[in-house]
This record gives sequence, C-alpha cells and structure tokens, in this order.
Amino acid sequence: MENKKDNSNKNIFILGGAGYVGAELVKFLLSQGYRVTVFDLFIYGTEVLPNHPNLITIKGDMRDLKHLNQSLIGCTDVIHLACISNDPSFELNSNLGKSINYDCFEPFVEMSIKNKIDSFIYASSSSVYGIKEEKNVTEDMILEPLTDYSFYKAECEKILLNYSSSKLITTVLRPATVCGYSSRQRLDVIVNILTNHAYNNNKIKIFGGEQLRPNIHIKDMVRCYYSILNTSNNKKAGKIFNAGYQNQSLNKIAQIVKNCFNDNIEVETVSTDDNRSYHISSEKIKNEIGFVTEFGIEDAVNDLINAFDKKLLVDSLNNSDYYNIKKMQEINLK
Ligand SMILES: NC(=O)c1ccc[n+]([C@@H]2O[C@H](COP(=O)([O-])OP(=O)(O)OC[C@H]3O[C@@H](n4cnc5c(N)ncnc54)[C@H](O)[C@@H]3O)[C@@H](O)[C@H]2O)c1
Repeated sequence: MENKKDNSNKNIFILGGAGYVGAELVKFLLSQGYRVTVFDLFIYGTEVLPNHPNLITIKGDMRDLKHLNQSLIGCTDVIHLACISNDPSFELNSNLGKSINYDCFEPFVEMSIKNKIDSFIYASSSSVYGIKEEKNVTEDMILEPLTDYSFYKAECEKILLNYSSSKLITTVLRPATVCGYSSRQRLDVIVNILTNHAYNNNKIKIFGGEQLRPNIHIKDMVRCYYSILNTSNNKKAGKIFNAGYQNQSLNKIAQIVKNCFNDNIEVETVSTDDNRSYHISSEKIKNEIGFVTEFGIEDAVNDLINAFDKKLLVDSLNNSDYYNIKKMQEINLK
C-alpha cells in the first residue's frame, strides 16, 4: 500500500477558498491530510465547502486587514485565490476591483512574513500577456495586459516577487482558463458556457472560431497547486509558471463539446471583430517541477454533463450563483 505523506503539520491558508477553484482545492488538500483554513467573503455561499475536522472557515473581507492578520495565526503556507475574478465583474466597479485585487495585496504579503508563513502561491492569470504573435508564450515574455483585471494581476506579481527571500518562498502561477465541475460552479468560462448551452439548448454559438483559447481542467488546476506546495523551495522560490493544457481553437473546443453529446448539437458560428488569440507554453512547469496535465476538455465536458444529469446545477442558464458578473450586480458589494 502507498505510504501517504503526513501533511498534518501544515495548515494551508486559502484566501478565496470558497470560489470555483478553491472549493475543489480545499477538498483535495483535506484528502491529502493537510489542515486548511479558508478566509473568504463567501459571495457564492458557504455550502460549497464540506464540514471537515481539519477545515476552519472564516467569513471575512480581505480588505479588513486586522481580521485577515488574526486569521493567519497558526497557518504555515498561503494560496491566494481571492479576487474579483473576471474582466466584466472588475469593470462593473473598478474602484471596488482595485481595492480587492490590488490595494490589500502588499499589506497581506507583509503580514504573511510577520506571521512566519513559509510559502506563498499567487494565482495570477495567463491574461497578463495580452495578445502575442509568438507561437508559444513563455514566462519571460513582456506583459501587455489589456484590461484592469489583468493589469493588477501583473502588478501583484511584481509585488510578491519583490518580497521573495529565504523568509518567504514565493511562486506566481499564470493559469489558463479553468474548465469542469466544481461544487462552486462557474458557467461563465468558455468550455463550461458551451457545455451548458449544448446541454440545455442543444445549441452552441461561437464568435469567430480560429482564435486559440488555452484551458486547464479544474482537477489539473488543483493538482498544480498541490505540486507547487510539494516542490522543494529551490525549484519554486521567486518563480513564475504558466499552467495550461493544449491551446485549442474555439472551433476545436466547440467540436469537442459537440462530440460529447449523443444528441445532435447545432454549432452556430457568428463573425466577430474580436480576433484575440491566446496561446501559452506550459513547458517550464513540466521541466522544472514535473507538473503535467492529466485531464482534457472532454473530461471537463463529461463531468459537467454528469452534474447536469444528477441535477446538481439548478436553473443553470439564469442562476446568478454560476455567473460572477450577475452575482456582483446582485450583491452590490462596496
Ligand atoms: N477560473 C479561471 O478560469 C481562472 C483562470 C486564471 C486565473 N484564475 C485566478 O484564480 C483565482 C481563483 O479563480 P476562481 O475562478 O476560483 O474565482 P472565483 O470568483 O470563483 O473565487 C473568488 C473567491 O474570492 C472571494 N472573494 C472575493 N472578494 C473577496 C474579499 N474582498 N474578501 C474575501 N474573499 C473575497 C469570493 O467570495 C470567491 O469565493 C483568481 O485569482 C483568478 O483570477 C482563474
């Protein structure tokens, strides 16, 4: 029988642990014997996380620095996921977006050092590159963020890496768009949008088609954070890693989604001026820490179909729980 590593001396502080990625990451880390502390506003509800003896959940706003500081006590490592996490939600109220995604970032890094946190992983985004002509966009390329959301991601990266030292092991991750099922579902990301419409309307619509869209299965996203946690300090300190699966065109993604259904799914292609094409290389993370993806877009689609069949997703074309922009409009956070 495989000898499981004892992780119970580690208490991972997950800021934003009740989000789409966080909800699955928390469950995985608990299954690996970690203690986990989630600090989150729980914008998408509390029931997305399990009851577990090794899980502490703290409802709070990360802009409340005193509360954040108290909550860090006893934690050993940080994974920072919390934010207003897409362009439209950020643009809804850019002052709010900046206050959450940027203003409290540096104080949080400083308090992590004061609280003797060992390692800090920051969820940036591959959108920091903007649009590049190069076939393989690697971590050393110049950042040309096109939106405020991406701009502040890039700014936080710089801050974190400036604090990199033997006291705080820092790592920046630039994930592709995540896809698949989570107990806190998002249906506003490309593969999930198409699957939702295929399942519920027998029809999907794509704008353009040739543009490349890198994706990563949520299970791989979770494995990726876990790999970084378990990588020796010398391999991850001060490092930046892209994390994605293949770069597929929208046409190809639509075909993959369609092929996962027995029913005939109509694919409508609408012309668009938005020819932005993204493509990232995930070679560095493979070569330096040995992380490779195990799941594809088909797996994500099939997991979502399974969730629909089991009625786990309720009123999925309208329910604001699945759409960040709708939820932010609804709660009118200040
Ligand atoms: N999902 C993707 O496709 C994707 C791709 C690249 C990068 N990322 C990054 O990964 C991270 C996680 O993404 P996600 O899809 O899970 O996002 P999400 O929106 O599902 O989760 C964000 C979490 O942050 C919490 N939060 C927001 N404001 C807060 C505040 N003021 N105080 C405390 N908590 C607050 C929310 O309640 C939510 O639980 C984000 O940083 C995102 O930018 C995500």
